[in-house]
Amino acid sequence: MTPLRVWDLPTRIFHWLFALAFAVAWTLGGEDDWLGWHSYFGYLAGGLIVFRLFWGFFGEELSLFRSFPIDPAGALRYLKNLPTNSGQHYLGHNPAGALAIYALLALGLATAVSGMALLGADKHLGPLAGLVASDWEDALEEVHEFCANAMLLVVFGHLAGVIAGSLLHRENLPRAMVTGFKPADISPQTPQPARLRAGVAAALLLAIAVFTANHDFSGGCDDNPMACENDEQAEGEEEARDHDRRHGKRKGRHDDD
Ligand code: HEM
Ligand code: HEM
Repeated sequence: MTPLRVWDLPTRIFHWLFALAFAVAWTLGGEDDWLGWHSYFGYLAGGLIVFRLFWGFFGEELSLFRSFPIDPAGALRYLKNLPTNSGQHYLGHNPAGALAIYALLALGLATAVSGMALLGADKHLGPLAGLVASDWEDALEEVHEFCANAMLLVVFGHLAGVIAGSLLHRENLPRAMVTGFKPADISPQTPQPARLRAGVAAALLLAIAVFTANHDFSGGCDDNPMACENDEQAEGEEEARDHDRRHGKRKGRHDDD
């Protein structure tokens, strides 16, 4: 069997950075002391998804969205045939894997955006500071936590699928995601490595990663004066509310007297 190149370099870099970003963001989520790093890796995940959406239209053959369409009936059929290994063998993503991939991209985007909104509402930091009212904090926290946990569930499904597919089809799928090659006993159209395009995309991907890692999105006043203004404004409002509360209480007591 001749090894056939299935996953281009940008898709492989995307995959492993995305898995890393998710794992770190999830692990550090909810730890106040680690919020800076949590946000970094969350932004990285979001940036990578934006890249993957682009690569789904301009990438190499098997990375294109049209190569793995959303097909719930096909996914059911694939899963039904999986135990007996009697179904079609796919060189690219199978229809069940494809559903998991779209779910991961959609949930990942929702998690990153709700995280940014939460950071704005709760800490008055980040690009959405000043655009999201503090009253939304509780609802955003629920949405962010729900999306992150739903994503974790899909990741478990994804891993189960990768293990089952590897064992039943006797092929090492994780290795293919590292090397880009699969031993091919199927005869698809051979994807032509478009080296220039792959190089440009890999550079773009790395640029997103480096930019995300170096930019202090949730940083201090120098980086985001808007956030500080909002912070000061919010603190002022909070103090005023405290004052009103105290004043209101005293007044209430007077009224009772
Ligand atoms: C050790 C852990 C992991 C392994 C071994 C692994 C392995 C794989 C493999 C083998 C594929 C290709 C599936 C196929 O042949 O159709 C794949 C695709 C994919 N995986 Fe993972 N995965 C891991 C963790 C993750 C995590 C944590 C995420 C997301 C948070 C993730 C998201 C994806 C996505 C989005 C794709 C589609 C790749 C693309 O076309 O862009 N994976 N993974
Ligand atoms: C894939 C990306 C992300 C994942 C998987 C993720 C996951 C989580 C998890 C599991 C929590 C804990 C929820 C809880 O127990 O209450 C959390 C909290 C939080 N996340 Fe994310 N998150 C991501 C992206 C982001 C981004 C991009 C930001 C902001 C820029 C962000 C900001 C926050 C904030 C402000 C909290 C609340 C922290 C606290 O109050 O202790 N997240 N996240």
